[in-house]
Amino acid sequence: EKGNYRHYMQKEIFEQPVVVAQTLSSYIRPLEQTVALPQMDFDLSAIDRITIVACGTSYYAGMVAKYWFETFARIPVDIDVASEFRYRDPVLQPGGLALFISQSGETADTLAALRHCKAQGQTIAVVVNVPTSSMAREADLLLPTHAGPEIGVASTKAFTCQLAVLAALAAHLALCKGKLSAEEEREIVRHLIEAPAALNAALAHDEDISAMAHLVAPARDVLYLGRGPDYPLALEGALKLKEISYIHAEGYASGEMKHGPIALIDEAVPVVVLAPSGPLFEKTVSNMQEVRARGGKVVLISDAEGLAEAGEGCLATIEMPKVHPLIAPLVYAVPVQLLAYHVAVAKGTDVDQPRNLAKSVTVE
Ligand code: F6R
Repeated sequence: EKGNYRHYMQKEIFEQPVVVAQTLSSYIRPLEQTVALPQMDFDLSAIDRITIVACGTSYYAGMVAKYWFETFARIPVDIDVASEFRYRDPVLQPGGLALFISQSGETADTLAALRHCKAQGQTIAVVVNVPTSSMAREADLLLPTHAGPEIGVASTKAFTCQLAVLAALAAHLALCKGKLSAEEEREIVRHLIEAPAALNAALAHDEDISAMAHLVAPARDVLYLGRGPDYPLALEGALKLKEISYIHAEGYASGEMKHGPIALIDEAVPVVVLAPSGPLFEKTVSNMQEVRARGGKVVLISDAEGLAEAGEGCLATIEMPKVHPLIAPLVYAVPVQLLAYHVAVAKGTDVDQPRNLAKSVTVE
């Protein structure tokens, strides 16, 4: 089943260009360059608020989607981890869309949150990878990911497929709300179509990442920094690393560094910075300099332009293709997955079956 791969996780990381293309093919019409969502028996243009609920990696996909829904469709978004959601007695107004994101479709807290929202009259949309799951059955709008079965306990390909669906949904909502012209829609679709090739270009750096894993493997703690839609990717990178390599890792919004975590920085703490070149780049670079001034060792993940500007003096750099900001979160998922993977392999941990973890968390 694993073919030439050593682990399911590795195989699933490398499947991403194909499964993302597969997923996108049911959400876009490439010839017309338009977005295509499944039929629904409610009016999406009436949606004036979105509540996103999910756990773990799926929650981080939701955090990225919040940027997209707000930027493109100008719809306000609330987002919670499922285990907190019901207990804060959320205010759910009529006309709201509650969106649940889950690979398994069975995560107990997410399912309970779905039922809570349904009882409160919210319209229920789900992004799930298992089409026969409880969440899929209970949805008003089912948005499947076509990642295929995910065996590795650490989620990888399900995440990038979730992002692909959520980007298409954001574009569709923006159209419904009259916030997107037909030309802008075509432009978004063109960027999405480029995602599989960009994922391939990111995967081409597998060997570089494998070669630098020994620099991170001895660390006791690792920090991940990102800004904007790359902030959830920093959280995802930290989660992947701690799950499979058992190294303590934290993700932070780059600008939060100086509000506390900078106190942790010394020569022994690698800091992984996710920073595609673009409008947010300069700010992140200055946060990176603050780390370096305190002896911190930076692993910079950026494109050629970003690395030319700020790569010097880093512990290591990982080059990503230069991509449109819309697809950057999909592309930057690859190096953080591969880094966690190779560090875990270097440490000799059980990559596919990390201790204490289950693939599907069916208890609250
Ligand atoms: C992380 C991971 C978990 C899951 C979480 C939600 O690698 O796999 O954090 O993302 O348990 O699971 P689903 O998406 O099945 O609801």
